[in-house]
Amino acid sequence: MPERVRASSAHISPSAHYTGYVWYRHQLADAAFITGFGRFVHAVLSPVTWAARVGFGLDLEQLLLQRHLQIDARLTAAIEQEGVCQVVEIACGLSPRGRRFTARYPQLRYIEADLPMMAARKRLLLGREGWLGDQHQVRAVDIFATEGKQRLGALFAELDHSKSVVVITEGLVNYFELALIESFWTRLAEQLREFPRAIYLTELYPDLREHPRYRQLRWGVELVGRLTRGNYPLHYRNDQAIVQGFKQCGFSQVTVFDPSRASQALGLAPSRGAGLVRVIEASV
Ligand SMILES: C[S@@+](CC[C@H](N)C(=O)[O-])C[C@H]1O[C@@H](n2cnc3c(N)ncnc32)[C@H](O)[C@@H]1O
Repeated sequence: MPERVRASSAHISPSAHYTGYVWYRHQLADAAFITGFGRFVHAVLSPVTWAARVGFGLDLEQLLLQRHLQIDARLTAAIEQEGVCQVVEIACGLSPRGRRFTARYPQLRYIEADLPMMAARKRLLLGREGWLGDQHQVRAVDIFATEGKQRLGALFAELDHSKSVVVITEGLVNYFELALIESFWTRLAEQLREFPRAIYLTELYPDLREHPRYRQLRWGVELVGRLTRGNYPLHYRNDQAIVQGFKQCGFSQVTVFDPSRASQALGLAPSRGAGLVRVIEASV
């Protein structure tokens, strides 16, 4: 992978402070997950997110909660209905999910992974609270590394290959051009074939050009792109294209969830329109 892509990927990390603060605000995280930078960015952006919500019905925090809670719901189902006992959350940032799920399910082994600097910060945070141990660990990974200690293979080598696994990415895939992220999905599917049962959960913002809020969404992703000094391309035109795309990357079963249709079950206010975010559950 060219160094240019690897280097630009690190610019995404500050956005994890913002989402970390959003999870805290909505009672999904303990105060330990807040950073001064996250609180600051949230305060600076709040007039903009307020204007987007009131002015043209684009509720950024609602979108974030939809994806987070829908992923939680699918992870809960994998644990409770399929007996999954290993989870790898890649690009974990300052997400509290690992803490919440290890507290709730003592049998679960949960590995959080991110670029080295963010992984070090997360390790420090969890360690300070006494939450790290055999059950809950943090590792450095770079989804584009094909050699060295940060490659996917090194991360998966730590797992028990006789047991099933769930892999999660959240807030990651739309930061990259489709061909690049598909190369990651293809390498991920190869890793997952080594397990008796493996489920990949991710959220995705599709290019829903017919959606009544499409123009506003484009404005929103433009803003996210500028703030993170990169692009935020939308992937696939519809649910059918998503299924096809994931199958081409090596996943055999693909289900697309629209969290806006499950607002009540997810404990959220009813959605006013069709959803803009999807959660994908793909298995090999
Ligand atoms: C928007 S944050 C999302 C954090 C968290 N998942 C959440 O939803 O709150 C994106 C995360 O992706 C991580 N990231 C960026 N490039 C990466 C890469 N090449 N490999 C692994 N993680 C990466 C960043 O460090 C950051 O923590």
